[in-house]
Amino acid sequence: MSLQVVNLKKTYKNPLSRKPPFEAVRGVSFEIKPGEIYALIGPNGAGKSTIIKMIAGLIVPSSGDVMLDGKKLGSETAAYKKLSAVLEGTRNVYWRLTPLENLHYFANLRGISTTEIREKSVQLLKTLEIEGKKKNQSQHLSRGMLQKLALGAALITDPQIILLDEPTLGLDVGSSRKIKEMMLELTRKHGKSILLTTHQMDLVEEVADRAGIIREGKIVREGTIPELRNVFRNHIYRFSVRGKFKLPPEWQKKYGAALLSGQNDHTEWEMDCKKPEGLYTVLSALGKKKLEIISMHKPVEDLEEIFMRTLSEEATR
Ligand SMILES: Nc1ncnc2c1ncn2[C@@H]1O[C@H](COP(=O)(O)OP(=O)(O)OP(=O)(O)O)[C@@H](O)[C@H]1O
Ligand SMILES: [Mg+2]
Repeated sequence: MSLQVVNLKKTYKNPLSRKPPFEAVRGVSFEIKPGEIYALIGPNGAGKSTIIKMIAGLIVPSSGDVMLDGKKLGSETAAYKKLSAVLEGTRNVYWRLTPLENLHYFANLRGISTTEIREKSVQLLKTLEIEGKKKNQSQHLSRGMLQKLALGAALITDPQIILLDEPTLGLDVGSSRKIKEMMLELTRKHGKSILLTTHQMDLVEEVADRAGIIREGKIVREGTIPELRNVFRNHIYRFSVRGKFKLPPEWQKKYGAALLSGQNDHTEWEMDCKKPEGLYTVLSALGKKKLEIISMHKPVEDLEEIFMRTLSEEATR
């Protein structure tokens, strides 16, 4: 099932306060196809949780649409059964119920009987590594265990669309990895769609197909992870040649060539070749001088750098 968000807006107004209304989300659109993981990344207060809550039907958008397979999600509850959300924090489960009872309760809410999910719920607690606590009151679970239980409660109903607001926040390394594996299995194997928000760029790099960078309620950049990596460094190359080589001044001027290291045995530099033609110019110059190329590659920038750069670029606009 695909999820489309079309020009979604949210203005928070408090009728009891004199404060002016606050535009938290200002026209956000994106689409998530079946089997895809889409990550929303952005600084605190950018509007990520607000978007998740609007899609989940927990707060009413000021305008815009949320659609499942092209059909508007309206007030009818049937369509919402296809969708599950894990919200920020750990208040998503009932503290007086045991983990197992919680899973049964959330399934029952969606009209699924306990017998239907008896095996599945035990299995899910096992996968989440909290089956040891299945008979304890949930209030005695640790914060990370509660977070995992909330994920279990969202998954027990077998939703097509899964909304995860910071799912690995505060989890230990092993638990984070487990959740990553689950996300990949749900999408790649079972064709579910996942919308994810996080501040953990490594998570985005490891699991997301596409990401949207959001700032002050707007998506300012969007693409697949390789596309985002290439935004700023499409034609930047790093060269290393045998021996001492003096960078031609015109390369410095035209391509911003910068020496990285220049020992006697090799010379290494980086430059922005601008277009593929620039690369050929450089290569033929090196060829004419019969220089031995030790290495030539496009260094990849990590997502965190791209994220920071996008935000600072937008801020100066
Ligand atoms: N109920 C509310 N009433 C008024 N303003 C709100 C309300 N909920 C959120 N906001 C404001 O809307 C903006 C977006 O909040 P939101 O929680 O969506 O951000 P976020 O991107 O999830 O941030 P974080 O990374 O910190 O979780 C913030 O400025 C926040 O103060
Ligand atoms: Mg949030």
